[in-house]
Order: sequence, then structure tokens, then C-alpha cells
Amino acid sequence: MTKNKIVYAIGLGRIGLPMSALLATRGFTVHGIDPNKVEGRKIRANGFDPLEPLLEQTLKGALESQSLHVATHISHVKKHSEKPVLSLSGSSKATDREEPFLSSADNREEGMKKNSRLQFFRNVFLIAVPTLIDQSNRPDLSQLYLAIESIQSHLESEDLVIIESTCPIGTTEKVASDLKKSIPNLYVAHCPERVIPGNIFHELVHNDRVVGGVDEPSTLHATAFYESFILGRVFSTDSRTAEGVKLAENAYRDLNIAFANELSMIAEKKGVDIHELIQLANRHPRVQILTPGAGVGGHCIPIDPWYLVHSAPDLAELISTSRAVNEKKVRWIIEQVKENVRESQAKAIACFGLTYKANVPDTLESPALQIIEELEKVCEVLRVDPYVSKPYSPEEALAHADIAVGLVAHDQFLQIPSKHFSGKIILDFAGAFR
Ligand SMILES: NC(=O)c1ccc[n+]([C@@H]2O[C@H](COP(=O)([O-])OP(=O)(O)OC[C@H]3O[C@@H](n4cnc5c(N)ncnc54)[C@H](O)[C@@H]3O)[C@@H](O)[C@H]2O)c1
Repeated sequence: MTKNKIVYAIGLGRIGLPMSALLATRGFTVHGIDPNKVEGRKIRANGFDPLEPLLEQTLKGALESQSLHVATHISHVKKHSEKPVLSLSGSSKATDREEPFLSSADNREEGMKKNSRLQFFRNVFLIAVPTLIDQSNRPDLSQLYLAIESIQSHLESEDLVIIESTCPIGTTEKVASDLKKSIPNLYVAHCPERVIPGNIFHELVHNDRVVGGVDEPSTLHATAFYESFILGRVFSTDSRTAEGVKLAENAYRDLNIAFANELSMIAEKKGVDIHELIQLANRHPRVQILTPGAGVGGHCIPIDPWYLVHSAPDLAELISTSRAVNEKKVRWIIEQVKENVRESQAKAIACFGLTYKANVPDTLESPALQIIEELEKVCEVLRVDPYVSKPYSPEEALAHADIAVGLVAHDQFLQIPSKHFSGKIILDFAGAFR
């Protein structure tokens, strides 16, 4: 059983809380640590993310069964018996493996062998705290280093430290080299998260993982840990590659969005309908242009590419230009709307969409919100978004506003009867009304 394996989950936010709940249902004893999400021995009521419908229920079960405990600081955790034990939790998986660290067979015996590797590390310290950028777009890893500092005196030989926070290439090695000065026989690895908010529980279990240790034993143990509870494939590599994979994924997304956004500004200048242009261009069998929008927001894409830029400013031209284009799109939209307000002498505008992308209730780093806040300085803005509390209904907003501005293409906006747009100036920057 994995019961005697303890996982200390440092950071109980969008990633750490569902991970803790999941691990607690998979046979681990989990101690979740977060000074902001925990009060006494309970998770704060506002700690439940409304985006994740399964979260509250899963957490309740885990807390009641005492497989999950929470605390504000690791020093408040009661010591358990932490003797390494053989794990036979047996989550054997239907996967087809070719990688060097991974065996090819898929049967119970193989699952047991894989899980038996869990005996060779002691307990797990899983770090999922914010990693940010500063005002000059340089990495701000202060919360990660504070989190590492907080666990340092609790680590013992053969513990496994896994950084799930997204970080610049080389961070895991730096953390490991600092920690190993006092605990040489420590395993340290990086495993980036790829989950999408709103479907986290499914994706935590089913997504493929990339796991990279700072040395071979670290990679092996971290791989065995993830293989014991996920159903996706686990791809083993070194920590630098694992860090780079996550950054490359998000820089790739940013770059492709920037292309669509740049094209949309050119199309506007030349009087071409960008949505028709893209639809027709995408009929080419090897072209797949994304839909332009109001810019880029959310947890990862506006931040992660900067980690690559910072690591090689002289080489990361395309990546930094993509960031600049996506930021420019926000300013361009503000100017377009202001110009229309001036020319039409509009008193009120209706902005459709506040979230950072379509069909999600999350406004983190939302470019639409940035745009709205600027526009509010020049005219009345009626906010319309079914995912955000106390918005105007489309009908109310359109009855009052002179201009309809499409910022996020929520599916619901497509249902608005066209009669409500009659006589309005329509500025659709996201394909919200198509
Ligand atoms: N949210 C996502 O969709 C997503 C996806 C992939 C990767 N990531 C990455 O995962 C990491 C965590 O992101 P998140 O969205 O969960 O952040 P979050 O802000 O939702 O949660 C982080 C939590 O860490 C806590 N924390 C900070 N310092 C701490 C410390 N020293 N000890 C204990 N707790 C501490 C904070 O109080 C907060 O509750 C980031 O690096 C992020 O880039 C996030």
C-alpha cells in the first residue's frame, strides 16, 4: 500500500489542491500546506475553486477519511511513521511504452514491479507555488525559493522533492544543488503541469506527463511516483528538458496566437474580414491558423515565454516578438474602440466577454478586462459575460449602448437574436457574434 508514503503538498492553489485531493484518493497520506488557503486545520471556504465542480466533494471525502490533512506551515504537521514500505497500489495502465526508463509490458506483474520502485524513496515533497515575472518581465521565483526554504529542515535522506511549478531551465538543478549540500542523498525532479482549469481532475489522471530528474535515480523515482497514480503515459527525461518542454509548449501557443492577432490587425487595415480570411486559408490541408482574440491571458501563456526570453535574450527573437504582438493587440483594440467612440460620439458601449478565454469563468490576467478598464476612462461600459457575476444581460446592454464590442467568443453570444444589434456599431475582435 502507498498509505505509509506521505506527500507534503506545498501550495494548495489551482494545481496543488486538486493534486492533493487526487493523491489522497490514491492511497497516499497527504499533508497540504498553504498559509493562505488553510485556517486552523481546515481549508478556507473560499479555497474551493468554483471552476472545479468535483473538487469540494473529493476534498471532503479525503479530509473525512483522514488521508488528507492541511496546515498553514509544515512545522505544524504532526509526525507520522515514515518508514519506507513496499508499495503494491497497483495502478497498472494500458500503455504502450518504448522509452528507456519504461518497460513495454502492461500487466499486473509489471504494475507491481513499477510500484515496487516506490520503496526506494522515502516521502514526497510536491511544490506547486506561484512562479511569476517582475515588472521588467524577468523571472520572479521568490515564492518558489521561500517554499523550498520552508521544507529544508524537514527533508531527510532519500526524500523525493518534485517541483511542479513552471520554472526557467536550470531551476530544478539549482534547487537540488543547494539542498544536496546538507542532504546529499536527496532525489529532486521537475514535472510540469499541463492541466486546463475546469477539467483538472480528468486531466490530472489522463494527461501524459514529462518527468525529469537532476540525476538518474531522481528521474526513476519521480517516474515511479507518477506511474503509481496516473493513467496517461509518463515520459522520463532530465530536469532541464522537462522544464524546457513546458516553456516551449506555452511559447508555441503564444506564437501561434500572435500570428493570428497580427494578421487580424493587417486585415482590418486592408478592409478584409479576418474570420473569412482564416476560414478560407484553413482549407489548405497544411494550414491551421488560430482564431484572433483580445490578446493573451490566463495562468501560463503571458508568463512562461518570458522565461525562455530571459534565458537567451539574444536568441529568443521570435518568442519575445510574439509577446510584444499579443500585448500590442490589447492597445490596438483600445485605440480602435476609442476612435469609434470619438467619431460616433457614443455615450455607452457594451463589452461582450470579460474572461481570459472563451467558455471559462476565469478572469486571471484577462486582456478583455484590461481593455474594459481603459475604455471606462472615456465612456460608460456595460459588461456582458454569462460567466461573471452581476453582468448585464445582452439585451439590457444592447438596449442602452451605441457600440457592441466583442472581446471573448463565449458560445452563448451566438444565441443573441440579431434584432438586438440593429442600429449598433459592431466591433467584433474575437468572432464573438459570428
Ligand atoms: N493554474 C494552472 O492552470 C497551471 C497550469 C500549469 C502550470 N501551472 C503552474 O503551477 C504553479 C502553481 O500555479 P497555481 O495556479 O496553482 O497557483 P495559485 O496561485 O492558484 O496557488 C499557489 C498557492 O501556493 C501558495 N503558496 C505560496 N507560497 C507558499 C509557501 N511558501 N508555502 C505554502 N504555500 C504557498 C499560495 O498561497 C497559493 O494558494 C505555477 O508555477 C503555475 O505557473 C499552473
